[in-house]
Amino acid sequence: MSKYEHDYSDYRTTPFHEHGDEVPSNRSANPTMYDVIDARTSRRGFLVGGLATLATGLFGAGLTSRAALAQTTATAGLLGFKPVPLSKDDTVVVPEGYKVQILAPWGTPLSGDMPAFVSGGNSGAEQGMQVGSHHDGMHFFPIDGSSTDGLLVMNHEYIEPRFLHAVKWAGQALDGDTVVFAADGSRDADEVLKEMNAHGVTVARVQRGADGQWSVIAEPMNRRITALTEMRFSGPVAGTPQLVTKFSPDGTRTRGTLNNCAHGVTPWNTYMTAEENWSGYFVNADAEMPREQKRYGVSNEASRYGWEKTAGGADEVIRFNAAATGASAAEDYRNEPNTFGWMVEINPFDPASTPVKRTHLGRFAHEGVVFAPAVAGKPVVCYSGDDSRFEYIYKFVSANPFDPATANGDLLDTGTLYAAKFNEDGSGQWLALAPGENGLTPENGFADLADILVNTRLAADQAGATKMDRPEWGTVDPNTGEVYFTLTNNNRRDMTQIDAVNPRAENNFGQIVRWKYEGADHSLPKFTWDLFVIAGTPRNSMTFKGEVLGDDNTFACPDGIWCDRNSRLWIQTDMGDISPAQEGPLEPFGMNAMLAADPATGEIRRFLTGPWGQEITGVISTPDGTTMFVNVQHPGAQASAEEFAAGKFGSGFPDYNGSVPRSATLVITREDGGVIGA
Ligand code: FEO
Ligand code: CA
Ligand code: CA
Repeated sequence: MSKYEHDYSDYRTTPFHEHGDEVPSNRSANPTMYDVIDARTSRRGFLVGGLATLATGLFGAGLTSRAALAQTTATAGLLGFKPVPLSKDDTVVVPEGYKVQILAPWGTPLSGDMPAFVSGGNSGAEQGMQVGSHHDGMHFFPIDGSSTDGLLVMNHEYIEPRFLHAVKWAGQALDGDTVVFAADGSRDADEVLKEMNAHGVTVARVQRGADGQWSVIAEPMNRRITALTEMRFSGPVAGTPQLVTKFSPDGTRTRGTLNNCAHGVTPWNTYMTAEENWSGYFVNADAEMPREQKRYGVSNEASRYGWEKTAGGADEVIRFNAAATGASAAEDYRNEPNTFGWMVEINPFDPASTPVKRTHLGRFAHEGVVFAPAVAGKPVVCYSGDDSRFEYIYKFVSANPFDPATANGDLLDTGTLYAAKFNEDGSGQWLALAPGENGLTPENGFADLADILVNTRLAADQAGATKMDRPEWGTVDPNTGEVYFTLTNNNRRDMTQIDAVNPRAENNFGQIVRWKYEGADHSLPKFTWDLFVIAGTPRNSMTFKGEVLGDDNTFACPDGIWCDRNSRLWIQTDMGDISPAQEGPLEPFGMNAMLAADPATGEIRRFLTGPWGQEITGVISTPDGTTMFVNVQHPGAQASAEEFAAGKFGSGFPDYNGSVPRSATLVITREDGGVIGA
């Protein structure tokens, strides 16, 4: 365990804390595989020229299979563009022959009165009719298979309060996390409404016009789902005492979804949104905090935005105080944190549908979810990472088989949740998180399946899963069935905690792990894995081919990842709120970027670089592959409090006219109309 977990009562004051980070809260004694690997590879060896040894040792099996793959598929030319250089400019750069258009920035009129964007000046109600802030995971749902008309559905992970309220808060020295309280300690009700409405999910009809330009079309399918939208629960936890609140005494409903990071698309064409760093939205100052809050890092001092202190004390705001203030759980919000941390299913084609929190996929800081290709007659399988330091990767396998004619979200309500154990020899296994399995018994504190799922992290601790370097997005290569997961970084892993899949102490740069099954059968309990790439500088990086990264592809902190239908692997970076004056270990990498890789050859090329302060996240193409949508999140976030007070917003993106910076979607096309990346 890192010393940092003990040394600070408020995780936000720890060194290396990044905007939106969740508190590391894994205090289990699970081994990190150091014990088993030390006999084989010296820890020092990993750091001083040991990466080559690591590559030949761990990637041996992978090399064989990749070589076989290369003989059977035409892999030459998967990457057909000229790489772009590292950038320190406040702009978007794409390869020669490519074009970029801005679509659906935060505040774009979407529904209702279609209110126009006012830089830092719209009301809370207006925000509810506009595209939300901090674009993240995203999917394009074609309408009738079209590549020029569809629903663009995207997550809005969090907010930058000073930019939301830039008109009212002008001249004040505010950093990106700070909110303004009144003299009596309350928050302004309309400001909080705006903040809640800037969270959630946007469903927007988008079309390509005759001039090739894409735009958001006003139409009834457009929808905002926010921190206030009513949702229902399904699966084993629905209707149990753990979900009883004043709002829902029968434990079947809640309001809103929060910190929606990445997403997933089900085999029945619905959208799933992940609730990632939700614990920070709550506060519980009770002397004793229940384990289902403590293990997830709920603060006993302050919530992120102080919503529970909103003037007027409406029911939808006081729920962020998770203290036991009433006589029973049905009279307060002690269980409200249990209503977050889930994967939420949304039918984007039905604007009246109620989103469903699918509890059998577990409760943790879900980065996203990725479904294996569904096979008729076989179970539905999906994967989800828990993005916090030393947390786990999970898999769900449905009990019932997939039938394309009848499949729906009910398939996610019965089955088995597993946590991953990565062995040092390149094998791995899935540990069932089910009653009676892997020590999950009443004697060990797990009363039943609902208790296991509400306390998924503790269950995985008990089962002995492998503590990972912040699992982020995953993707499945549709042509090989191989699964890829990004492990973005973990600067708190120390020398005694390194293992084969997390091989670096003070890991500032991250790595990408991949695994596969015999017969590409994702329902199997065992797999084999290797590291696709260990990211970093030329001096501290390695692909599975044993090659180091260089000028055309050096990168750090992989986060978003998506394998397109041609097996081109798109990798996006989130090094935090990167500044053009960046110092320290991340200085050599320029602005956050997107790269493309060839899974068979290991070739990686930088495709895109973004403006100041942002991260690149969210990527999807139209079915024909000629239009790609990519999100730019939190431009200008690196601006200091003093700069904000002086009217300097850290980035001009995307308007460059003095208005506040806005998260936005990039529409990327080729001048010759060809497939992106080819
Ligand atoms: Fe929301 Fe883990 O990035
Ligand atoms: Ca992410
Ligand atoms: Ca991120």
